[in-house]
Amino acid sequence: MSLETTYDRAGLLAEIRSGFTLDWHGIHGAHHWGRVRYHARALAVLRGADTLVVELFAFLHDSQRHDDYADRLHGERGAEYARALQGRFFGLGTRQLAQLTHAIQHHSGGEVSTDATIQCCWDADRLDLGRVGIRPHARFLSTHGAERIANAYEWSVGTPRAQPARPR
Ligand SMILES: [Fe+2]
Repeated sequence: MSLETTYDRAGLLAEIRSGFTLDWHGIHGAHHWGRVRYHARALAVLRGADTLVVELFAFLHDSQRHDDYADRLHGERGAEYARALQGRFFGLGTRQLAQLTHAIQHHSGGEVSTDATIQCCWDADRLDLGRVGIRPHARFLSTHGAERIANAYEWSVGTPRAQPARPR
């Protein structure tokens, strides 16, 4: 069964977008979420982690940001938001919801996790740091995550945001 049929992706994205207050195409917006989703799902398959949880992380982890800077509490707000959406757009088991909310709440703290699903989420987010001029460091990634640094970095810095269009 594909992920598309296990939860209401279109409904969830519409809900997130309706409440998102930052630039949808900005450094913490949809393009970033798309790359995080790509990395997270690929890593989850490699590691036998939970592909639904990591996909939900990609869409939700930065959705409650109030600014594009540190915004220290955005992880906490994101986790709370995920709990509020449970049962509306997705129906996670107790363990899955705990993994998702933990991953969201602590994603910017620089921690590493022995839980493969949680670390897949954090790997994926960190692999996209090139968009803000930071090269991901293997120390904060799983072995599988670290193997993707070079490709992920190239992708992240090649975004339109990082390379503004030349004036015509
Ligand atoms: Fe992020």
